[in-house]
Amino acid sequence: MTKPIIVSGMQPTGNLHIGNYLGALKNWVDLQNSGQYQLYLFVADLHSLTLTMTPETRRENVRLLAAEYIAAGIDPAKTTVFVQSHVPEHSELAWIFNCVTPVSELERMTQFKDKAAREDKNINAGLLTYPILQAADILLYHGTLVPVGQDQVQHLELTRDIARWFNNKFGDYFPTIKPLLTKIPKVMSLLEPAKKMSKSKGAGHIIALADEPEIIINKLKKAVTASAGGGQAPGVENLLSLLQQFGATETHQKFIKAEQAGTIRYGDLKQELAAAIAHYFADFRQKRQDLLANPKKLEKILMAGAQQAGVVARATMSEVKKIVGIR
Ligand code: TRP
Repeated sequence: MTKPIIVSGMQPTGNLHIGNYLGALKNWVDLQNSGQYQLYLFVADLHSLTLTMTPETRRENVRLLAAEYIAAGIDPAKTTVFVQSHVPEHSELAWIFNCVTPVSELERMTQFKDKAAREDKNINAGLLTYPILQAADILLYHGTLVPVGQDQVQHLELTRDIARWFNNKFGDYFPTIKPLLTKIPKVMSLLEPAKKMSKSKGAGHIIALADEPEIIINKLKKAVTASAGGGQAPGVENLLSLLQQFGATETHQKFIKAEQAGTIRYGDLKQELAAAIAHYFADFRQKRQDLLANPKKLEKILMAGAQQAGVVARATMSEVKKIVGIR
């Protein structure tokens, strides 16, 4: 019996925060540890070329993200972990998919429209064709399950369409994929709790997985708890939800009861939450530091991952080339 294949990745844009962790990485680790799937997880460095970033920063971010995957529990002995550009077949398949995808379908993508509005000085063609590369990432490995956040669902629908357009044109070859959405707690910004936690707003809005305990408490001390009008304050709701994720059940229950009784003290809540998060990621911080201090070890892991992925990728491309008539 072969296991269902899961493919996913993230763009290397700097330290991960607890929103990224609860939204994706934790889920990957759980799927890996269930033993029921074969996973391909990569650092989407080719995708990051659509963003404005210096080459030095990009190089550093790739290493950092790979180290954070592994420090968070992705085990290279169980999961194929690699850097996207190390397997050139991603780009090769993307070109073939370019030639079956209508431009109008790409222009419809919400994320393209958002990014084009934001990056108005750098609306490169890659920003438009980005979901085609994403389709190639997945279908290269005959992936059928793709654990992503809600913001990626439209891209996955496009991946499914691309497989269909290819199959209609050349005959049945690629499988139908499914997004794997799990119940993910919404993690909000510490300073603007009406908005999603995002690093683009500034370091004070997020808690990074790598943040040291004293940084965590300092950031939480500044977290907004005030209510805009009547009803529960979104900032408090966010802190309680984080305590549920990272703290002990009894501690969470205690604060929920206090909140209902109107006796809750936000200072105490912040102290408890800071301690819980610092404790939860203690092992992560240590492993991350060890990997970053030992670049040879990390490089070896990533080379082995690219080698494993490459075997599958080359087999797929060899078939695809025959199917489309370029071999
Ligand atoms: N587009 C995804 C993101 O920004 C990253 C990504 C690239 C991806 N290729 C993928 C995710 C393939 C899942 C599968 O989050």
